[in-house]
Amino acid sequence: MPISAIDASKRNREICALAPIIPVLVVKDATVARPLAEALVAGGLPALEVTLRTPAALDVIRAMADVPGGVVGAGTLVTPQDVKNAVAAGAKFGVSPGATDALIAACEAEGLPLLAGAATATEAMAMLEKGYDVLKFFPAEASGGASALKAIGAPLPQISFCPTGGVSPANANDYLSLSNVVCAGGSWVVPGDKVANGDWAGIEALARDAAKLERTS
Ligand code: 3PG
Repeated sequence: MPISAIDASKRNREICALAPIIPVLVVKDATVARPLAEALVAGGLPALEVTLRTPAALDVIRAMADVPGGVVGAGTLVTPQDVKNAVAAGAKFGVSPGATDALIAACEAEGLPLLAGAATATEAMAMLEKGYDVLKFFPAEASGGASALKAIGAPLPQISFCPTGGVSPANANDYLSLSNVVCAGGSWVVPGDKVANGDWAGIEALARDAAKLERTS
């Protein structure tokens, strides 16, 4: 069923409210999807972004979509076909590094709330004009980090962001203490070596630490 920009923003806000951090996952092997998602959800991070950057990504989304308590989204959406594939696999939200009219239209037609990327005031204002007031700030660190996002928030307080790209335990608090940040995205909670070793307890512990990070908004 199609979704409006207003309803997509409302849903994005709900998803971003679930936890301070959305893990960004690059998973090569779908057989690890379920225990990985279970560990993250158990650690307190229910919203998960699976990037469509590996051949296994759609199978990973399919496997994670069944995990109780999880809300699985598809990241790195670039084309309308990506949107169709993500929805068919069971994704409940979409994330993109930027936004195009075609991508936005496809997400609205497919009923997929889109967390679209913006890195400048103009990009954020263009999305706001279309009805989207919850955006990804990407690439967060390379775009000036928390101080840049704070500066954008001064004239545009009506837009909330999920900064992603270079967010780490060392700087997460700088972002999460901003009034225009609802949550942040990051890959550090899912280190490749822990996934390769099946260290689900270790990943759950990292998730638990991330889930404890405090937010202002
Ligand atoms: C990405 O591009 O993979 C995401 O933005 C996550 O970035 P990170 O690995 O710096 O957390």
